[in-house]
Amino acid sequence: MSDINIKKIKTDSDLEIKNSNATQKLYIETYGCQMNVNDSEIVVSILAENNYATTDDIKEADLILINTCSIRDNAEQRIRGRLTLFRQEKKRKPDLIIGIIGCMAERIKEKLLEQEKLVDIIVGPDAYRDLPNLLQQVEDGQKAVNVLLSREETYADISPVRYAANGVSAFVSIMRGCDNMCSYCVVPFTRGRERSRDVKSILREVGELVDNNFKEVTLLGQNVDKYKFEQENGAVLNFASLLKVVAETYPNIRVRFSTSYPQDMNDEVLETMASHKNICKHIHLPVQSGSTRILDLMKRGYSQEWYLNRIDAIKRIIPDCDISTDIISGFCTETEDDHKETLKVMETVGYDFAFMFKYSERPNTFAARKFEDDVPEDIKTRRLNEIIALQQVLSEKANASKVGKVFEVLIEGTSKKSPNDLFGRSSQNNTIVFPKKTYKKGDLVNVKVLKHTSATLIGEIVD
Ligand code: SAH
Ligand code: SF4
Ligand code: F3S
Repeated sequence: MSDINIKKIKTDSDLEIKNSNATQKLYIETYGCQMNVNDSEIVVSILAENNYATTDDIKEADLILINTCSIRDNAEQRIRGRLTLFRQEKKRKPDLIIGIIGCMAERIKEKLLEQEKLVDIIVGPDAYRDLPNLLQQVEDGQKAVNVLLSREETYADISPVRYAANGVSAFVSIMRGCDNMCSYCVVPFTRGRERSRDVKSILREVGELVDNNFKEVTLLGQNVDKYKFEQENGAVLNFASLLKVVAETYPNIRVRFSTSYPQDMNDEVLETMASHKNICKHIHLPVQSGSTRILDLMKRGYSQEWYLNRIDAIKRIIPDCDISTDIISGFCTETEDDHKETLKVMETVGYDFAFMFKYSERPNTFAARKFEDDVPEDIKTRRLNEIIALQQVLSEKANASKVGKVFEVLIEGTSKKSPNDLFGRSSQNNTIVFPKKTYKKGDLVNVKVLKHTSATLIGEIVD
């Protein structure tokens, strides 16, 4: 899943209606993955029922919440930096309540209250329903903590308030938690056990989005291929069947999903994608490393050969599918040869896009307990730079191959660079910019790609 940092909060008209009598103001900042973005929407919904409306002005806030990420050390450092700013606000306005929610709240728990004296509330990802009670405790003069993880919570009945969405595309969580226990990863500790959400509530939420004119949904989970829900009649729905039922119930909405897991992504999912026009032709399939030895140490459960076999299956079953990935450089014991295997896999796949990171040891994970973080920083950096440089070449090649082709684009808004241009995304998840003619946000248009820059395709609408 991509890292996102949403700071700007737009007040949604939906929320204003829900909150016409709200007297308290909430300022919320979100770090981390798409899951966290969706969780913030759930939090805003819970607090909207409890007298809070959102604001994008810190100075106006009665409550500041930071929805945090622990995935790498620098993610946590950035959040600590933001707290310095909020500390100044609190000096100015002593009644201001400051809360840390999300993965870092779960990882550090009560200790955060000692480390960050100004924080009043600590709430983990499964305890958001308790926020109104916790706020009451703070108003009564106490500090408040709830970091209980749950085996059941999916917030199935809560309709997220899309306060920062573009009005066209929205996230819908289909699962929570993760049972994979990759050796480097903090997520199983911060988000607890894997659980799938009731299909009925997923369909209800997508239906509400359709009614509100949204045109695209992204189904979210740490490993969507493990989606499994037993219906009342005893039938068990897997991820392929979920995709099918969402795509067929709402044929006019585009369906995306993230994240796929190489060990579990099967041909049934690929065939379902191929046979439904409205399921987008893009798969994010994190490889992490190209070396089978390192993959074993990472406890990923697949080899280089298995991974490349899954890539072959994608290319065979969905020839026009874009493939993106996540890569970690400098994991424990990684040698130059292991690194070369990663570069080799990148070339073999020809990724369209990649998120690339240096390994960051996370306390209490298997890798932190059992292995030494022994690749020197300068080598991690050099290898990461080589990975980034190769990906630039591959992305450039992928973009060049799209020139002259026509893609169906969902328009997301006006280009930042010119009021006469619109931008949107193709089914393959490429951003394309083009002159607007008579079209507007939310329309689906066919766009012919004429040229490209490093990150963007430029084209024209073909009517
Ligand atoms: N569930 C998804 C990933 C979620 S975390 C999956 O398994 O693919 C997003 C990405 O962060 C991971 O894919 C990985 O590349 C990176 N990441 C996770 N832990 C990390 C760590 N300790 N150091 C560096 N990168 C890490
Ligand atoms: Fe972390 Fe692995 Fe789960 Fe992804 S699948 S969230 S990398 S433990
Ligand atoms: Fe997401 Fe970061 Fe938590 S990537 S699951 S917000 S640790």
